[in-house]
Amino acid sequence: MIDKKLAFLFSPNGALAEHIPNFRARPQQVEMAQAIAQAITVNGQFIAEAGTGTGKTFAYLVPALLAGGKVIISTGTKNLQDQLFQRDLPTVRDALKVPVSIALLKGRSNYLCHYHLERTQSDGRFTTREDARHLAKIVKYAKITQSGDKSGVSDVPENALIWMQVTSTRDNCLGQECPHHKDCFVLKARKEAMRADVVVVNHHLFFADLMLRDEGVAELLPACNTVIFDEAHQLPETASLFFGESISTSQIIELARDTRLEAAISAKDFAALPTATDSLDKAARDLRLVFKQREGRMTAIAIEDLSSWTDAMAVLIEKLKQVNSLLEKQAERSEGLENCWQRGQVMAQKISQWQDKEQVDRVRWLEIFHQSVQLNTTPLSIAEIFSKQINGHPRAWIFTSATITVKQDFSHYQSEMGLLEAQTACWDSPLTTLSRRCYMCPKICSTRIILVIPKRWCWRLCH
Ligand SMILES: Nc1ncnc2c1ncn2[C@@H]1O[C@H](COP(=O)(O)OP(=O)(O)OP(=O)(O)O)[C@@H](O)[C@H]1O
Ligand code: SF4
Ligand SMILES: [Mg+2]
Repeated sequence: MIDKKLAFLFSPNGALAEHIPNFRARPQQVEMAQAIAQAITVNGQFIAEAGTGTGKTFAYLVPALLAGGKVIISTGTKNLQDQLFQRDLPTVRDALKVPVSIALLKGRSNYLCHYHLERTQSDGRFTTREDARHLAKIVKYAKITQSGDKSGVSDVPENALIWMQVTSTRDNCLGQECPHHKDCFVLKARKEAMRADVVVVNHHLFFADLMLRDEGVAELLPACNTVIFDEAHQLPETASLFFGESISTSQIIELARDTRLEAAISAKDFAALPTATDSLDKAARDLRLVFKQREGRMTAIAIEDLSSWTDAMAVLIEKLKQVNSLLEKQAERSEGLENCWQRGQVMAQKISQWQDKEQVDRVRWLEIFHQSVQLNTTPLSIAEIFSKQINGHPRAWIFTSATITVKQDFSHYQSEMGLLEAQTACWDSPLTTLSRRCYMCPKICSTRIILVIPKRWCWRLCH
């Protein structure tokens, strides 16, 4: 029944052709949609590989919206998230005439934080004039925005350093204790996601949340009937990033900064604290300076006997200990100081765990970034952890990508992800079946490959 309905929807006379300019029937796309519909019906796990340009997005959106219930769609990047939310989802919803509500959920670092914005404004200490200029724009935006999404401030670059001071992290968010709790943009975005039928997230957010329970996805999951991962080949790497533990020098620098700001407001008479935070900040930066290279990764074993590393680590641990013991004395003076003290203790614990050489099922490694070093511990196998996460409740799990298999064999991916029970299927791309040039094309297409697509496969504005 559903197979027939889908075949009609994707046919030249169907609802999609009616709404999408130059829509063409593609056998791979219909078959994929039918297989996904089937997996949704039986709450199955299904891995679909279909070549690039097959139209996988419609192939999963149509059956997912028709099946109803709550759906989470996770994509590889924020750009793909925006594209799905702004273009593909509304297109399919309108074509199918289904009354589903949709929401976009990003990580907390994408939303302005009233509390830290206020703190930064009152601090008034900026490293550059540019920071001050950016801050003025952000303050103006904060007064008019509904969503608090930082992408709304187009003239402050996404990677501007000031963003770190006006957004929150899991560490420094005061949660229920925050005086701005009621107007908080992060909480508002999560509430909207809770209410919506279809929520678009990204893989980082999804996995960060499975482990940390802080980004709002975990609370969506219990009510969710279908989870769809697009660009699913990226999952093993993203998952392993989050199934491990990490602590970075930039987190320590943030702690030093937040402690200084909090002390300036609630512990002005306690001069020892700002002095200790300055030393902590320096020790964290010095650890980064041990490395000459701009970026890179290495195992813990490779540097553990290096005296410049062990010395810098010892200083950092000592300075963190000092800040923590000073914070312990002042914590009761404000929520902000209490929060800093808690964070400081967790950081000290993570560093000492990272140094523990006895962990046989984990790899200890570090990543060097332009301005920071991150200490990571990654489990050797993500399969066990992931399969535990997804086998809990009956719901459908769909994985799609153009490049999942090794020569059409899914077993590597399945064992890596712990998806041994999943159904699998593979479709060739319309692009790989090319045989002749499309001489009919009257346009100069921006993608050269379009010029060699047979007429019946060409989906651009050509015919
Ligand atoms: N049946 C169709 N007829 C015409 N155009 C289509 C059809 N299906 C999808 N499209 C369009 O084709 C383009 C590619 O679709 P989509 O992004 O879903 O491909 P994909 O299979 O996900 O490829 P990739 O692996 O590169 O992500 C989009 O612009 C989409 O709107
Ligand atoms: S609740 Fe957290 S994110 Fe929201 S305004 Fe307060 S500190 Fe910022
Ligand atoms: Mg795609």
